[in-house]
Amino acid sequence: MTELSPVSQAALKIDRLPDAQTVTQVTHWTDRLFSFRVTRPASLRFRSGEFVMIGLMGDPDPKTGKQKPLLRAYSIASPAWDDELEFYSIKVPDGPLTSKLQHIKVGDEIILRPKPVGTLVHDALLPGKRLWLFATGTGFAPFASLLREPETYEKFDQVIVTHTCRDVNELAYGRTLVDGLAQDPLIGELVQGKVTYYPTTTRETSPKMGRITTLMENGTLFADLGIDGISPDTDRAMVCGSLGFNIDIKALMESYGLVEGANSDPQHYVVEKAFVG
Ligand code: A2P
Repeated sequence: MTELSPVSQAALKIDRLPDAQTVTQVTHWTDRLFSFRVTRPASLRFRSGEFVMIGLMGDPDPKTGKQKPLLRAYSIASPAWDDELEFYSIKVPDGPLTSKLQHIKVGDEIILRPKPVGTLVHDALLPGKRLWLFATGTGFAPFASLLREPETYEKFDQVIVTHTCRDVNELAYGRTLVDGLAQDPLIGELVQGKVTYYPTTTRETSPKMGRITTLMENGTLFADLGIDGISPDTDRAMVCGSLGFNIDIKALMESYGLVEGANSDPQHYVVEKAFVG
């Protein structure tokens, strides 16, 4: 076997083509939020709730003229059975990736590394009766996948999804998805009567105001749903939001006696940070 010289090795690395996928649909939900769908690599297998690295080629280096891929972790918002892949993203005006990504159009290509990972998966939870999905902002994305996953309804009698956003229009993606579940030809029948949607806003008036953490602490959430509370005997939870949100919900889950799980150690609840920036 001939060994490559260090120079050839470097050239190979730079010239390696990224994994390109074609954009098939783009929806702008607000001036801060959009979702898009891309083709799915034939070889990509993933579990609903996992994330992959996606992105675009960055600007050419002013000195060398070389371009490097600009990649970020994104939860796959479509279920494992879907022919395409869906993503839900914030638009950060000066964000290195999202300032560009927000302008993608049907027919454009994005880079997608086909190595799915993540802890918001059924494998990381013990069986239970009720599944809570707690999201803020774009943290709804992995739940958009799990809410369309048949296993969610085969494993749980009830699924309660809470979504806290600043403003009412930021709830639109999640609300549209939940509203469409019952009509879904593949999972509509499985879903019937099992999903409870609990949206809240913190900075604009809506029927339910306040952070979900506050509404749990003061008992409003449980009173509204007619549930005694959260218990490790019956309840399982998945959490996806900002770092502060995840820390606060984690503390609440632990206070109810739930133990954090992982792929290698399934327990009562799992947490993942939503993509930002
Ligand atoms: P708030 O408006 O009180 O900060 P963001 O857009 O900053 O990611 O926030 C999304 C939503 O998550 C907002 O409604 C925000 O409420 C809420 N939020 C942020 N941090 C926490 C937290 N630590 N616990 C509960 N909700 C939070």
